[in-house]
Amino acid sequence: MSEVNKNQRDFWSGKGGDIWVERQNAMDTMLSPLGEAALNKLDFSNQENVLDIGCGCGNTTFNIAKKIAPHGKVTGLDISEPMLKKAKESAEEKSLTNVFFNCVDIQTDNLGEEVYTAAYSRFGVMFFEDSVVAFRNINKSLIPGASLSFVCWQSPTVNPWQSLFVQEVKKFIDLPSPPPRSPGPFAFMESEYVSSILEESDFQNIKIEGHEAEVNMFSGRSLSDSVKDYISINPVVSEMLKDSPEEQKTEIINSAIDAFSPYYSEKGLMFPSATWLVTAIK
Ligand SMILES: C[S@@+](CC[C@H](N)C(=O)[O-])C[C@H]1O[C@@H](n2cnc3c(N)ncnc32)[C@H](O)[C@@H]1O
Repeated sequence: MSEVNKNQRDFWSGKGGDIWVERQNAMDTMLSPLGEAALNKLDFSNQENVLDIGCGCGNTTFNIAKKIAPHGKVTGLDISEPMLKKAKESAEEKSLTNVFFNCVDIQTDNLGEEVYTAAYSRFGVMFFEDSVVAFRNINKSLIPGASLSFVCWQSPTVNPWQSLFVQEVKKFIDLPSPPPRSPGPFAFMESEYVSSILEESDFQNIKIEGHEAEVNMFSGRSLSDSVKDYISINPVVSEMLKDSPEEQKTEIINSAIDAFSPYYSEKGLMFPSATWLVTAIK
């Protein structure tokens, strides 16, 4: 198997993917309002064949399917075997016939030529080793004039659910800073960089809009379980702690519980968040 995107494939098809499946409802609660903001940027009145990039467990794919039924279909593509398995099971349970899922690497696999009438992603486009190659591949798969819309995170400094945790880890571990723009949730935090990727991939009419909203993480979980879940679902954090002995992990968890507690209420963790809503046309 190709070495390209191996770290991400290992995470999303390994423990990371499993925990995303386990905590799918909580993740959907957190991400749905942000994903909806990007979905509202697309005109679904005439869509025949929509692509959901890095669709995960398929929540957004199902939303799109409802919007374009009965004539349109939607295809969710992802590299995570466990998340796609869950997506396929859910599609069967919902008896949806216009939804398709496939295990592919958006960067390296053939996505077809001029097959999709629009492309969308909820936080599924920041994990490519070579984003220009990936977006050129996406571009090639779209018909001329097709719209692209996705949501991605702004910097951790305006997303305290990430920066607060990293601050606590740094009290215990001397963390090397990952190379800027390396694959991960914050790879697209610089809007000029996102714009340059889309330009190099031949997209036109690129628009990037800041969006701020409160997010609800792990509703229904205790504060300490929320912190543990947070560590497991986040590829950056999992990587930071992978070599820590259990004792140190416990100290970090306790320290993070203190840092997160002002954001905890009966609804779960409530954090401010900042994302980019990105749109473009082929
Ligand atoms: C943060 S999750 C978002 C999942 C889903 N869109 C959601 O909002 O619940 C990122 C997704 O991107 C997928 N992904 C990462 N790299 C990929 C690649 N090279 N090709 C296809 N999917 C990829 C992961 O497997 C994962 O499902």
